[in-house]
Amino acid sequence: MTSTVITNIRTLVTNDPALGDGGPLGLVEDAAVVLDGDRVAWVGRAADAPAADSAYDAEGRAALPGFVDSHSHLLFGGDRTAEFNARMSGRPYTAGGIRTTVAATREAGDDELARNLRRFLDEARRQGTTTMETKSGYGLTPEQESRALRVAAGQTDEVTYMGAHIVAPEYADDPAAYVDLVTGPMLDACAPYARWVDVFCEKGAFDGDQARAVLTAGRAKGLVPRIHANQLSPGPGVRLAVELGAASADHCTHLGDADVDALADAEETVATLLPGCEFSTRAVYPDARRLLDAGATVALSTDCNPGSSFTSSMPFCVAIAVREMGMTPDEAVWSATAGGARALRRTDVGRLSPGARADLTLLDAPSHVHLAYRPGVPLTTRVWHRGTPVA
Ligand code: NIG
Ligand code: FE
Repeated sequence: MTSTVITNIRTLVTNDPALGDGGPLGLVEDAAVVLDGDRVAWVGRAADAPAADSAYDAEGRAALPGFVDSHSHLLFGGDRTAEFNARMSGRPYTAGGIRTTVAATREAGDDELARNLRRFLDEARRQGTTTMETKSGYGLTPEQESRALRVAAGQTDEVTYMGAHIVAPEYADDPAAYVDLVTGPMLDACAPYARWVDVFCEKGAFDGDQARAVLTAGRAKGLVPRIHANQLSPGPGVRLAVELGAASADHCTHLGDADVDALADAEETVATLLPGCEFSTRAVYPDARRLLDAGATVALSTDCNPGSSFTSSMPFCVAIAVREMGMTPDEAVWSATAGGARALRRTDVGRLSPGARADLTLLDAPSHVHLAYRPGVPLTTRVWHRGTPVA
């Protein structure tokens, strides 16, 4: 194994409160990090850094853990430019647009799906993302969903089965039969490739009882629940997530006091906010401040998908969360790294302290605050993934 010391880091975000300034970001000024193989071996002041096989001069830049993007939908064919265009002329976003992508995805070959996924994972990595979850949900048959997940399992270790994205067009007149398929033969075909099970709990998709059936069936097969909840309207999704101990309740845009209280008291369920979605659908942003003040754990993620949020950029999400959702820059950076790791129940990523995976993003800026201060500027200059420079 070879070691590298990255030195001359002006501001280092470790997300380890035991390190640095004692705050949640564990900031260390004038820092160095030693990577040994695929792990972080040492973190501290540059002046105290041990020798390593090679050295990299960060030239006074800021470093942070690679972003952990805990929610995306990258297994699809086609795109929805026309729908986006129409929306920007006033048409509202509904779950119905998903059908367009289902038709295009069913037409796409395995190679095309794999190439698309690779393209988006690489695109995200160039912007500092080193862990990315992705979901099925544009195939909606046992064969289509399982082949999409097989493709995903070859490229990322965070794979989610979402046969319950919408009711498949063939079952429009019999949604109960579709839920039986999703919780039966489709689940059997998909479970070997997935870690998580997800459902879109929303008017026009699945109601609370159906969502509960999907998540409990997935759990019985060893998958861990996460849920699309309270995105377009108030509903039972968030409270269901907390009740079932889901890893994450995602969107959380339309919340009542009982939803906020449930998330604040939740031991196991993270509130994942997806600002790219409200940006691209011209909707009202979720209120991160309300959740944080209540004591909820908040993650930020892109929701990258061709319909509601076609961005792979975590820096973009950080900037919007600060400008529009009441988060401080420190909170937003924590949520995009450590928060995402919590939402994926990972302790090896989202932090830079000894033993963590050697996933590190270097910004062409002296501080992580510039992610919000300099919106739209490509600040990511170098990315290490498992100890290897990848971008
Ligand atoms: O998270 N809400 C459901 N699913 C996606 C959108 C999918 C689509 O429009 O294609 C979301 O916003
Ligand atoms: Fe989503």
